[in-house]
Amino acid sequence: MSVALALPHDSARLHVTGSARYVDDIPVPTETLSLAFGLSGCAHGRIETLDLDPVRDAAGVVSVLTADDLPFANDVSPSVHDEPLLAVEKVFYVGQPVFVVAADSHLAARRAARAARMEFAELPALLTIDDAIAADSRFEDGPLVWQKGDAGSAIASAEHVVEGTLDLGGQEHFYLEGQAALALPQENGGMVVHCSSQHPTEIQHKVADALGVPMHSVRVEVRRMGGGFGGKESQGNAVACACAIAAHMTGRPCKMRYDRDDDMMVTGKRHDFRIVYRAGYGRDGRIRGVEFIHYSRCGWSQDLSLPVADRAMLQSDNAYHLPAARIESHRLRTNTQSATAFRGFGGPQGTIGIERVIDHIAHDLGRDPLEVRRLNYYPAQGTPDAPRTTHYRMPVEDFALHAMTEELEASSRYRERRGAVAGWNAANPVLKRGIALTPVKFGISFTLTHLNQAGALVHVYQDGSIHMNHGGTEMGQGLFQKVAQVAADRFGVPIETVSVTPTDTGKVPNTSATAASSGSDLNGMAVSYACDTIRDRMAGHLAMEHQASAADVRFEGGRVLVGDAAYSFAEAAGKCYQGRISLSATGFYKTPKLEWNRLKGQGRPFYYFAYGAAVTEVVLDTLTGENRILRTDILHDAGTSLNPAIDIGQVEGGFVQGAGWLTMEELVWDDLGRLRTHAPSTYKIPACSDRPDVFNVSLWRRGRNRENTIHRSKAVGEPPLLLGISAFLALSDAVAACGKAYPALDAPATPERLLSAVRRIRDTEA
Ligand code: MTE
Ligand code: MOS
Repeated sequence: MSVALALPHDSARLHVTGSARYVDDIPVPTETLSLAFGLSGCAHGRIETLDLDPVRDAAGVVSVLTADDLPFANDVSPSVHDEPLLAVEKVFYVGQPVFVVAADSHLAARRAARAARMEFAELPALLTIDDAIAADSRFEDGPLVWQKGDAGSAIASAEHVVEGTLDLGGQEHFYLEGQAALALPQENGGMVVHCSSQHPTEIQHKVADALGVPMHSVRVEVRRMGGGFGGKESQGNAVACACAIAAHMTGRPCKMRYDRDDDMMVTGKRHDFRIVYRAGYGRDGRIRGVEFIHYSRCGWSQDLSLPVADRAMLQSDNAYHLPAARIESHRLRTNTQSATAFRGFGGPQGTIGIERVIDHIAHDLGRDPLEVRRLNYYPAQGTPDAPRTTHYRMPVEDFALHAMTEELEASSRYRERRGAVAGWNAANPVLKRGIALTPVKFGISFTLTHLNQAGALVHVYQDGSIHMNHGGTEMGQGLFQKVAQVAADRFGVPIETVSVTPTDTGKVPNTSATAASSGSDLNGMAVSYACDTIRDRMAGHLAMEHQASAADVRFEGGRVLVGDAAYSFAEAAGKCYQGRISLSATGFYKTPKLEWNRLKGQGRPFYYFAYGAAVTEVVLDTLTGENRILRTDILHDAGTSLNPAIDIGQVEGGFVQGAGWLTMEELVWDDLGRLRTHAPSTYKIPACSDRPDVFNVSLWRRGRNRENTIHRSKAVGEPPLLLGISAFLALSDAVAACGKAYPALDAPATPERLLSAVRRIRDTEA
């Protein structure tokens, strides 16, 4: 009954009234210290001088720590122990933490941190993809290569070939709440950490290592994040470890939050990519073979770069059947922030490669790109060719995009508007319009198979109220509400009966990050199992009392029906308590069917695919490069949605964030490796006024997961970000109206890049 209802976010009222509590809002004991890092001003160098006396002498300072002072592990890496909390002898990027100050206020700590005297012997710094390629600076010994068939000869024997290069910028997460943590020392060496992290278990693990204690001595609590977007999967480790270490050493609670500028300077961002493509195709527009070379700029430490770059390879087909493919992926080590997870996790970068190929083919053939897309789509289920397998050998068994595209094409009046755009462009020399329809197929599951597990803990109290906990974290995406709806549904009670409590490593252990869009799939199932265990016990007891069959006990409408009797849920809970029935249970879920070999690039890394499609129309001023989105129509497949209101919010937000990445958000580093865009004054994220003037978003009514997910829903967190590609290709379409050549636009398509693309293709005419 609660499932599938369009209920508001459980914290909506708290969010809009400013009473939702974030880490920095937690009341703290008076002796609490505030921390700040002292940061490297050098992109690569040996630390020659580190004079911290002026820091120690600064007002309010209680303690100053360097790598030498740390009691145990100096390691905040989520993967291969290559990322010290505080620099040891050398620094590897501008913004790297070198020391940490604990002082009696946030401002005092920040002021003191700036008083250090640091000198570096500079070493050569590799800042760009070109620098790293030239120096062969990479993670892993060489590129990872996956192949299906013989792409080289397929291209050689094809009637036509397109080739080109696409540069994609990175993206700052710009979560509204910056990284933050609060550590409270406990008796006997224990530590409680409140933080803003997508991955409480990893924080627990890292803090335990930093303090030299077992994981049982550390408890991590996360009530909510003010946005994470992947930026709080691993990047919160440093803040939490610094607080825990300082708390351990001073015996006082310690808290830390980055200022926006520090947050942007210190933490990793989306990987920028260069994608080199070559595709052979027939006169009919069908792809025969494709080769991609991916270069990703991973920054100074490995972090999550390997799985991010893997997912870019996995998404290289997007919605299209590739008869032959070769993908070569270079993971480049540079002296910049360590690039990290960001909504889509490399998938958006991989996807835009093949979308560019299709767009380029359509341009060269002079055909509507939508026709060429459809021609190359995987076959629909039930048609003779279905299912086809991906380039990594996974069958695509539920391909929904033929039907969805048809529906969206009609509802958006794509065909008619494409004609109107052509008419407009013929009549208007300055303002050019463009339109593009792009699809998304996005694989759901962590590609590191063991992460696809989740646990839950559910209590029913004797008054019939329900306390629900699971391993997932709330970052605004509405996970808590969706999972509470699942619990309410299992017990047949109104949603108000269920209280969602903060994520706590003491309640549910060994959790995975809330990531890969799998939060509701995994935790929804785990909670549902826990509820069923309690429900079965309650049914068994009540049935016995009424000499009825447990199978006939019904939980619905806030009541429990046993034979002729009807109890309120509270009465039923009270009776079970009196009957000495355990009303608490854990639940556990692991995703079935997964099997994946990442080195070979073969197997079934995903449980299923989520689908979506977007049509975007833009207008571009060819004198200034200014542009805006006139209209976007989206049809997205959330399966049988657990909560259509929340899911539509995810689709809208994902699209805007994706369009922001590709059209306006630009990170600029100078030639000393300093990030120059480290505040909203210089880094532009989409504002309300940048959303499409007309924005029609629908969930696909026929959506239903063919796999047995929770209520046959589909994950919805990341896939809609890729719909932003339609905005980018619509701008490219507008540029194409200025001449005959293919625009070959790079991203982000800022006004400057758009202007030079316009100039380029006008020059080719001349
Ligand atoms: N939505 C909001 N409002 N805030 C966020 O930080 N993160 C995104 C997505 N949607 C995010 C969001 C990312 S990167 C992921 S992986 C998923 O939510 C994680 O949550 P889920 O698995 O519960 O969908
Ligand atoms: Mo999302 S990038 O998987 O946290």
